[in-house]
Parts: sequence; C-alpha cells; structure tokens
Amino acid sequence: MQTKLRTKASATLTVNNKQIELPVYEGAVGPDVLDIRKLYGEGGVFTYDPGYQSTASAESQITYIDGDEGVLLYRGYPIDQLAEQSNFIEVCYLLLHGELPDAEQYKTFEKAITHHTMLHAQFDRFFEGFRRDAHPMAVMVGTVGALAAFYHDSTDIDDSYQRMVASHRMIAKMPTIAGRAFKYTIGQPFVSPRNELDYASNFLRMCFAVPAEDYVVNPVLARALDVFMILHADHEQNASTSTVRLAGSSGANPFACIASGIACLWGPAHGGANEAALKMLDDIGDVKNIPDFIKRVKDPGDDVRLMGFGHRVYKNYDPRAKVMQKLCHAVLKEVGAENDPMLKVAMELEKIALNDEYFVNRKLYPNIDFYSGITLKAMGFPTSMFTVLFAVARTVGWIAQWAEMIEDPSQKIGRPRQIYTGAPRRDFVAMDKR
Ligand code: CMC
Repeated sequence: MQTKLRTKASATLTVNNKQIELPVYEGAVGPDVLDIRKLYGEGGVFTYDPGYQSTASAESQITYIDGDEGVLLYRGYPIDQLAEQSNFIEVCYLLLHGELPDAEQYKTFEKAITHHTMLHAQFDRFFEGFRRDAHPMAVMVGTVGALAAFYHDSTDIDDSYQRMVASHRMIAKMPTIAGRAFKYTIGQPFVSPRNELDYASNFLRMCFAVPAEDYVVNPVLARALDVFMILHADHEQNASTSTVRLAGSSGANPFACIASGIACLWGPAHGGANEAALKMLDDIGDVKNIPDFIKRVKDPGDDVRLMGFGHRVYKNYDPRAKVMQKLCHAVLKEVGAENDPMLKVAMELEKIALNDEYFVNRKLYPNIDFYSGITLKAMGFPTSMFTVLFAVARTVGWIAQWAEMIEDPSQKIGRPRQIYTGAPRRDFVAMDKR
C-alpha cells in the first residue's frame, strides 16, 4: 500500500518543559490525525487511550465511516448503493482490489471463489471431535485455525501469490465450514458445495438441504443473505479487524489471523449482539412489557442494555440498520411471518427508544444487529448461527485489512504500552515471614 498521508500542519505539545513538534495529517475525508510516534523518544511519555477512543491504529484505504452523519463507504461507494445494486462477490472484489471489477475480472474472480469451496476430505474429521452441543462459533474458531494445517502452500505471507490464494480459499471455504458447523450440531449429514449456485444460494443449500429431498433455493432469501453479507463485509478498525491486524503484525499466517478475528467477533458487544438482541426481544415477549424493560435499561444500578442499540462510532442511525430493517420486512413477508410478535416488539421498542431522552441524549440509535437477528431467524437459522453468518461475511473485510497491513511499508509488530500502577520493586519474602 502506497501511503496517502498528507502533512497538513504541526502541533506543539509541551511535556516535561520540553516542546515537541508533532505532524498533523489529513486523510481523504474525516478528522485529522496527530502523529505521536516520536512522542516517547523525544518526550519520554506515552499516550493513554484504553479502548482506542481517540487513536487511529492504521492508515487504511478500504472503508470509511462518518459516525456523526451515519455514513459507511466501501472504497468510496456508499453501503446503500452497494446493497441495492451490487452483489457480495463483487463487493469482495472491490474490498480486496480497491476498484469495481469489469466483466472479465468479475468472471475470473467468481470462478476462483467457486472453485475453492471444497474442503480437504480429511478436514471433516475435525468436526467429529466436537460435542454435538458445541456452539458453532467454537467450531468455527477451531476449524478455521486448522486450515493452516492443510493449506501449507498459502501460508507464506511474504509471497503475494500465496496471500491471494489464501484470501480466495478463506472467502470460498468459510460458508462450507459454517454449513458443516451447523449440520454437525443438528445431527444431519454434511452437504457439499455446488458450483452452479451463486455464493449465497450455495451457502443456504449447505445449511438447509437434506439428502431425502431436492432443495430449491428461494431467490428472495438468497438475495437477502447476499445483502446481509454485503452489509457485514467490512467496518474499518473494529475489534475483530484490529485483532486480525494485531495477530498478523507478528507475521502469523492468514488462517491463524482470521481464526483470532472469529474469536473476537464472538463477544456480545460485537458480533454476538445479534444473538443477544434476539434473546432480549424474546425475553420482553410482548409490547406491554416494554415500559418495564426500558425502565431497567435506564436504571444505573441495573446492567441491562438495549441490545442492538448504540455504537462506538455511529452517533446517528447506523446506515446498515436502515437497509437491514427493509430486508427484515421483505424476508418476513416472504416466509409469511409479517405478524411475528418479535417484529412488533422490535418496532415498538425502536419507536420508544428513538424518542426517549435517555437514548437521545446519549446518541443511541439502532445498529445493524437490531433487525438482523429477526431476519436470520425468519430465514430458518437458529440464534447460535447468527454470529457465524456475521463471521462468514466479515472474512473478506478481515482479509482485505490483513493484506493491506502486510503491504504497508510502515507496518510494525503491534505492541501497545501501558501505565503501570502495580507494586513497585520489592524483595521476595519467604513463606514463614509473610
Ligand atoms: N443500552 C443502554 N445504554 C447504553 C447502550 C445500550 N445499548 N449503549 C450505551 N449505553 C449508555 C451507557 O450506559 C453509557 O451511559 P452513561 O454515560 O450514563 O454511563 C453511554 O451510553 C455510553 O456507553 P459506552 O458503553 O461508554 O459506549 P461504547 O462506545 O463503549 O459502547 C457499544 C458501544 C456498542 C459496546 C454499546 O453501545 C453496547 O453495549 N451496545 C449494545 C450491544 C450492541 O448492540 N453491540 C453491537 C454493536 S454493532 C455491531 C458490531 O459492530 O459488532
């Protein structure tokens, strides 16, 4: 990656009676950035920013978010335009290569992904080692990490061809692994990929087909899954992507890095939120219970949160949530579940929260997870698969960000510092003297 950082100005910081000049860079859009790399060397101090609230951890040319305006761009293209006019494979190409493909490039890329969907036959034995009641995310973390044990010819991160092959393999094999993780937990035989199907249809088939009858893909559900994946494909330096970058900064192979991203995604504050949001709607159960629930959310002594609301970056309506809400209605209509009580609870909850000063003052708006759980449930997925679907979709973003980092000449191993507040040096005390 060629740097596009432009020095705009400099800032002077006085530390320990010493003046330090720090460059201020401007990006293509978004806030300026203060380069503090020489701060410790010249000023002898670290910065303190747990949770990275004011820290840009990387220069990136992939995704841009304006949290105040509710804007999300992949390589400059607005998410709503991509969701409406593109498809997941084209978006994968865009994220990886920086530009939309022409017809020939699209065909070649689609073929490469389609022809990497199968898994090594021996790989299936990994699934057998898990308990049948294992959470499919546990199966994903273990099996994706195990890919490195099978595809040795794409683990050399200094070889650009191997990096590309690893990228194709992961985008292609993730639905196959996810389908198997699902089938294993419900005790059904694994379904192999079919090359004549598009990415989303193939995935649906690997999850829902059974040997006893032909599986006919519902085009409305396939398109909904495709759009779900476009919406989740990348989200700049979120927790799991930063985890992938940090793991990759040590030179770890790409399969191991993506496994670390999946592990991070699992948490309820991140990818696990769609599962948590659906559970919350289920617990509320009826519109009449909403006021009591909202009271609990607002009570500082109660740690209940309105799941699917709030975001570290969006302080406006999450642009993905708008698309997801529309998608939710389309899917529920298709499966004849427009009157699902959960949808009623969700819509009422959203209306109340958007007008309640607790949420308004804190700029808490629905995020993508608020409606994605209901949508996935209507498509036939159990809640335990929701984060798995997120992981399948986000794989391309993780890989694009990982590849960008490897190609960045300023890349260094990630090594945050700390402010130590523990015991100062002291001498060991023998057991009988304590
Ligand atoms: N419900 C109730 N109050 C909330 C919520 C919520 N969902 N989110 C934040 N707040 C309150 C919080 O209590 C705090 O209030 P106060 O100032 O009185 O202490 C204030 O808003 C700021 O919250 P914060 O925790 O400091 O904000 P954060 O930026 O660290 O947290 C978040 C962001 C997404 C973790 C948080 O909003 C949250 O827990 N939301 C619910 C989980 C969720 O939906 N996560 C999905 C995120 S989108 C998908 C993804 O990117 O993975």
